[in-house]
Amino acid sequence: MRIILLGAPGAGKGSVGRPLSSQLEIPVISTGDIFRSNISGRTKLGLTAKGYMDRGELVPDGLTVSIVEDRIAQSDCAKGFILDGFPRNTFQASELDRILEKANLKIDLVLNVHLSDERIIQRLSSRMVCSSCGESYNRMSKDTSMPGICDLCGGRVSVREDDAPETVRKRLETYYLQTMPLIDFYRERGILSTIDNDCTIEEGSKRALEAVRNALPDHMSGHGRL
Ligand code: AP5
Repeated sequence: MRIILLGAPGAGKGSVGRPLSSQLEIPVISTGDIFRSNISGRTKLGLTAKGYMDRGELVPDGLTVSIVEDRIAQSDCAKGFILDGFPRNTFQASELDRILEKANLKIDLVLNVHLSDERIIQRLSSRMVCSSCGESYNRMSKDTSMPGICDLCGGRVSVREDDAPETVRKRLETYYLQTMPLIDFYRERGILSTIDNDCTIEEGSKRALEAVRNALPDHMSGHGRL
């Protein structure tokens, strides 16, 4: 199954994507995580991406599309994948169509994770992220067991640089201008499902899973882990 997670920064795409990934046994492809790991590794891509991310702008399409094209072609994506944070504008969406058409594939579900700006700002101001495995925590709703240490991998947990209030405002602006039009783009194709994520993390995951069940292609309706 191939899924796109759409939604504003901080709406909870990563938090619903991880459990879906283990239930469906398909990888999450997060363009944001790919850029962040390149920033940590001080690669050329990381150096370029950092400037855009620090300003709350989109990394240029040329770079982003080729990363996704290469990643989708890897063998662990053969059964499907979950795209988190891609596409983010109509150009990227049409490039994704081109990439998938070449491989005779299609997207089964676009899961639009919705949360009000007010709640997004609250959640992002208390978010912490593991610098090793990318697991997301929150001082209000999902704290680490030991301060600053990731429960999953023991990595260092810290505030994401682009979660500074000024940058969050700019990221939201970028979302409304460039990404939100994709909601209608995919609704018109009949593959959009929206979940309200103003609920607990567990409830958000349940809602996401239900949307996936409703969208499962017939040949997968007996998928054991769902
Ligand atoms: P990216 O890393 O994709 O960030 P984002 O889209 O801004 O989304 P976030 O990761 O901030 O939030 P999320 O929706 O995953 O929420 P989360 O689950 O963490 O992109 C970063 C940057 O990279 C972009 O600004 C851009 O510059 C660049 N980029 C990436 N993709 C690109 C592309 N395609 N093209 C060009 N540039 C690109 O949840 C947030 C917090 O809330 C967490 O603390 C979590 O624990 C908590 N939480 C989640 N759900 C709940 C709940 N139900 N109840 C309580 N707390 C919850």
